[in-house]
Amino acid sequence: MKISNNYNKNTNFTSLRMKTFDKFGNVINCHYTNFNREDINWKKFAKFLGDRFEAQDKVKVNFFGCSDGSDPYTLILNLIKELGDKARKFFPILASDISEQVVKQVDEGKIQLHNKDIEYLKKINAMDYFERDNGGKIQTFKNLELMPFIVKNSLKEKMQTSVKDVRDAVKEENFSSSVFIFRNGWTFNTLSQQKEIAENLYKNSDEKTLVTIGQSDLFKSNASEYLQKSGFSGIKSDIFTEAETDYPSKTVGMPIKKSDYPEFILFEKDMKNV
Ligand SMILES: C[S@@+](CC[C@H](N)C(=O)[O-])C[C@H]1O[C@@H](n2cnc3c(N)ncnc32)[C@H](O)[C@@H]1O
Repeated sequence: MKISNNYNKNTNFTSLRMKTFDKFGNVINCHYTNFNREDINWKKFAKFLGDRFEAQDKVKVNFFGCSDGSDPYTLILNLIKELGDKARKFFPILASDISEQVVKQVDEGKIQLHNKDIEYLKKINAMDYFERDNGGKIQTFKNLELMPFIVKNSLKEKMQTSVKDVRDAVKEENFSSSVFIFRNGWTFNTLSQQKEIAENLYKNSDEKTLVTIGQSDLFKSNASEYLQKSGFSGIKSDIFTEAETDYPSKTVGMPIKKSDYPEFILFEKDMKNV
């Protein structure tokens, strides 16, 4: 497989579900997302965060690669549902993405929901946080109708957004006693960039830091291996459902062979290595 590393930070995306390709046909970036991505049991994850940070009054949740906000909104809704008033210490969630265009849409409160999103939001009684955007257009993506909605302020205010490249953030920011989430986006960074993310993150973490990746990062990147090689240890838990399936596209950060390391999506700093 030919891989080119001509990643362009300023690439303009024309749709949230669009992919950007390099000249060899490899996917350079993709904003694919939806509510309730099934690799995580979000209810259990919310409870787990509540327990892990029970003793802290305020907890920073850094959510990199947030795309259109579906993933961090899923977390916010579950934190509210499971922890009630105690969820407040996690807000606002610090959501960011490398793409200016997706962050702009999140800032404008715009989101496109498909039937499965709506079904899930109804199931958890969260549809009241959204209203139909009558001025927006219905888009079609692979036979899915994406319907335009506006995120109401009561939900939107629980998330603070910015444009950030996770590769820079791990060098510049401190993640001690915080949650670091970068899910399903590692593969759009080369293997050496993934290694650097893991190593820099380790330097800027402490024993309370919780690192979270996604199942597609296990299929399509070396995130789990590099995090363990950098000194993190995987946390075994039934929060990880393993319910997602692999998809065929080639990406710039795919490993040549499957890792021999055990696979996890949750990690913490192994203090034996310090
Ligand atoms: C496939 S989407 C996943 C979105 C969401 N986290 C989820 O799991 O559904 C990957 C996102 O990561 C972002 N991304 C890729 N590389 C990044 C980087 N170096 N820094 C920040 N965001 C990045 C992309 O722009 C994209 O929106």
